[in-house]
Amino acid sequence: MTSVVIVGTQWGDEGKGKIVDSLSDKADVIVRFQGGHNAGHTLVIDGQTIKLSLLPSGIVRENKLTIIGNGVVLDPQALSSEIEYLSKIGIKVTPKNLKIAENTTIILPLHKDLDLAREERAGKAKIGTTGRGIGPAYEDKVARRSIKLNDLCNLENIKDKIELILDHHNILRHAYKLDLLSVDDVYQYLQEIKKDIIPFVANTWRILKDMRQNNKKILFEGAQGLLLDVDFGTYPYVTSSNTLPGQASIGTGVGPKFLDQIIGITKAYTTRVGSGPFPTELFDESGEKLGRIGNEFGTVTGRERRCGWFDAVLVRQTAQISGIDMIALTKLDVLDSFEKINICVGYELDGKEIDYLPLSEPLQNKIIPIYEEHDGWLTDTSGINEFNELPLKALEYIKRIEEIISTPISIISTSPNREDIIFLEGIFN
Ligand code: GDP
Ligand code: IMO
Ligand code: MG
Repeated sequence: MTSVVIVGTQWGDEGKGKIVDSLSDKADVIVRFQGGHNAGHTLVIDGQTIKLSLLPSGIVRENKLTIIGNGVVLDPQALSSEIEYLSKIGIKVTPKNLKIAENTTIILPLHKDLDLAREERAGKAKIGTTGRGIGPAYEDKVARRSIKLNDLCNLENIKDKIELILDHHNILRHAYKLDLLSVDDVYQYLQEIKKDIIPFVANTWRILKDMRQNNKKILFEGAQGLLLDVDFGTYPYVTSSNTLPGQASIGTGVGPKFLDQIIGITKAYTTRVGSGPFPTELFDESGEKLGRIGNEFGTVTGRERRCGWFDAVLVRQTAQISGIDMIALTKLDVLDSFEKINICVGYELDGKEIDYLPLSEPLQNKIIPIYEEHDGWLTDTSGINEFNELPLKALEYIKRIEEIISTPISIISTSPNREDIIFLEGIFN
């Protein structure tokens, strides 16, 4: 087993950071393949909390190579701040332990301006983006007018590219009543950020090819979650990239047949941040309690997350679409004090039972969840790291989820801490 892909199976914030951190112990290289400096991944190591948005979680371990692949959209200022933050807590990021693909798309300040202006104008219809310019940067990428990292290495020829991007953005900026930008404004910005980023720029697909040929262990770290996928998520309330594991290939230049194992990170209940359909969302005391005990606030944005019961229909669907081999179930401990716990096992749509989430938004808004009620275990499970020490009712809950989603749960996490994890199957063996 030389490569493992980690993806979130819900709407993000499933605890990917913790699992990637744990698995990166055995990996030689940890690679991000999509997203940007999004909501954030949290690691808790020896009592210290580390919050990362852009850098692969493996960066905190000494002697591990980390790579930001071409599928990511990169804000150079966010990169510098994250490197500075890590350096203050004693973690060094150097061109030795971080390489960034030369064909990575740059997020410019104008992307962030557009993201924020659009959200403001949309009012109630807003997506609830992270406001970081991620969507507009991907739009420019597919429209073939973005500035890539390799353009920074040759600023002489860049003015034509800046003109092209401004031709588009100044029309929008005019419409949104934002100050118009000159070629020189953008050129100056690129001049400023270039010196800090160029040392990290590399031909990463070749590095990965050599590592693969030498049987090195590659861990791909997904961001966001499968229900935020631009094709298979709850469109339009999604992010602007494909979050499916196949993107690990496209977003790094490693062929799909070299992705050996896919692990879906799944929270023992459901959360969502931002707008959009959420069939099992709770507006009562139980929802408030999940949020409070689960500390469901954005890692770096601080935004309150919407909370609800575990939706097995959704996770089964995302597991089927993306070909997940096994599940890592996180935050089981958050359910410890619930007397009754519900699992959504199906939906009712126009009086008929269905076993999938329709991809059309009006239908999504009409579905009614069908629940199966389970007795809670009312026992403290936090910090348990032996499977047979889990209470019987917790084991039944896990078994039932496994049964409905037809995917084995092979990793269980019982606290934010690095060491509180149960492995039922070896990874990278
Ligand atoms: P990510 O975006 O998927 O990496 O997840 P986030 O880091 O944004 O959010 C997950 C939150 O849950 C973080 O605060 C983690 O420290 C925390 N967490 C992860 N696993 C567990 C767990 O098993 N139990 C509890 N109580 N918290 C966890
Ligand atoms: P991690 O990696 C949860 C959501 C936003 C919004 C939608 C689009 O920490 O799990 P964007 O800024 O990407 O255009 O926002 O996607 N979103 C996330 N939700 N976790 C994330 O990241 C997210 N990244 C984006 O809230 O609804
Ligand atoms: Mg997060």
